Amino acid sequence: MSKKNLTSVYLISYISYLLSFTFAGLNKFSLMDKKHKELKDKIAEAKLGGGEERIKSQHKKGKLTARERVALLMDEGSFEEIGMFVTARESNFGTEREQFLGDGVITGYGTVNGRLVYVFAQDFTVFGGSLSEAHAEKICRILDLAMKNGAPVIGLNDSGGARIQEGVVSLGGYADIFYRNTRASGVIPQLSAIMGPCAGGAVYSPAITDFILMVEHTSYMFVTGPNVVKTVTHEQVTSEELGGASTHSAKSGVAHFSCANGVECIQNLKTLLSYMPQNCEEDAPSIPYQPSNESRPVLNMLVPENPNQPYDIRDVINEVTDSESFFEVHKNYAENIIVGFARLAGKSIGIVANQPAFLAGVLDIKSSAKAARFVRFCDSFNIPLLVFEDVPGFLPGTDQEWNGIISNGAKLLYAFCEATVPRITVITRKAYGGAYDVMNSKHIGADMNYAWPTAEIAVMGAKGATEIIFKKEISEAKDPAAKLKEKEEEYISHFANPYRAAERGYVDEVIMPEDTRIKLIKAFEMLKNKVDTLPKKKHGNIPL
Ligand code: HXC
Repeated sequence: MSKKNLTSVYLISYISYLLSFTFAGLNKFSLMDKKHKELKDKIAEAKLGGGEERIKSQHKKGKLTARERVALLMDEGSFEEIGMFVTARESNFGTEREQFLGDGVITGYGTVNGRLVYVFAQDFTVFGGSLSEAHAEKICRILDLAMKNGAPVIGLNDSGGARIQEGVVSLGGYADIFYRNTRASGVIPQLSAIMGPCAGGAVYSPAITDFILMVEHTSYMFVTGPNVVKTVTHEQVTSEELGGASTHSAKSGVAHFSCANGVECIQNLKTLLSYMPQNCEEDAPSIPYQPSNESRPVLNMLVPENPNQPYDIRDVINEVTDSESFFEVHKNYAENIIVGFARLAGKSIGIVANQPAFLAGVLDIKSSAKAARFVRFCDSFNIPLLVFEDVPGFLPGTDQEWNGIISNGAKLLYAFCEATVPRITVITRKAYGGAYDVMNSKHIGADMNYAWPTAEIAVMGAKGATEIIFKKEISEAKDPAAKLKEKEEEYISHFANPYRAAERGYVDEVIMPEDTRIKLIKAFEMLKNKVDTLPKKKHGNIPL
């Protein structure tokens, strides 16, 4: 071979060598593109849940989709999804024909106002958000992560209950969730928003969590729906009447908030969260506070001269706490007691207050249970308690006795006795009978007790008391009515004031109402490092 030919051969080999690299590269790129596209397609498919038609139907009902809810809840761009491609494992009764990526629940983590939160949102477009084995495992994973990392869990519930086609594995899945909810109780805050139907097993996980928020007209909770009710009890009832937001927020007390729509519900979740710590080892976040004139002269005028005239204790709460910080919980249920979160000098506190404007602020079954649960939440999560007291006693009557006012009243008593957070009481007017003891008295561990000059701390009201202890004198008097009045006045001047209690130290200080805010700011500051522990035990036995 000539030298020239040899050069050509080398040149051709070299060019084909170079070309082989180029084609391999091109092949590699097209393979990569295919793989990337596959992933992108899967993500797009997962994001569609049960498909366009079902999304439309969800919107038509006035409901947001699970993804829209998560996007509204979490700080923009913070949400990281876990288990997007998980699918159902069972294939029965037609489920084999439809496989949905994510299996009807979106799970993950992100931040809400900059704080880590775990979330699951049930997707009604996939088998009605019903709970399968895989769906349950995704929720359990979120609960496990939240427990290990000490951050709140928010559940956005919208579910037809156990996935009927899966049988016992979905029941098992529910039990796995209930177990974790219970283990997590008191360790991390757990909030449940009910944003669609929640039937059957779907109601019990929220019921174990700390707070339930419901959306009016589009959400309901019941163990068995109207059809089963009709078959078993012959009662005719709509879903709304049986388990709608107004039913559960006002009648049963199962729900703590009734929200006008999904957007308001999510907003309330965020607000609620802002008063809580991440877990039981931490304090709730405080917000910057600029001290200013803390005197509130308007408080001097709030309690009416007539001790039987009502007034709204919310006016006192709003004056004493930081401006617009009071966030009422369980507003429509047992309105004779008010509970809620607020801030005092920027710090989160829990408030329990008798409400003289409703049933004279009497303690009954519902109000005792309502307040007891709130006290226990605050105590679990290191939120100091402030109590406003104006209570004529426990509600008498067969209805109350037969339905357990004794054990329900004891719940509140127990909850206060057990609480180790800083606790302060302000007695604005009546503190009568057993209710005096129950409403965070010094005797059951309150750290500071203040009374306004209008306080009346006694076994009972003047009229009832004089009728009993001066019965003979009154009946034998020439003018029984005048005698009753005379004895009543005698009783009032002796007992219907805060000074007998102050003499004993049961009240630390009688204060002018206008000074309440400054006194409380100082006292809570003084108590901020309080250490109090319960005797070693497995757990107490609260009278449930
Ligand atoms: C599988 C379900 C389902 C379920 C609804 N779907 N519930 N699929 N298992 N539990 C499906 C429907 O087939 C339908 O599928 C889609 O979800 C939407 O349901 P619709 O009925 O069209 O919607 P709507 O009219 O809004 O009524 C919603 C509903 C109703 C009220 C939730 O679907 C319903 O009553 N479901 C059953 C509730 C129930 O009895 N659950 C079991 C409880 S027993 P397509 O394909 O048409 O979109 C239980 C035991 C646990 O939970 C106990 C643990 C303690």
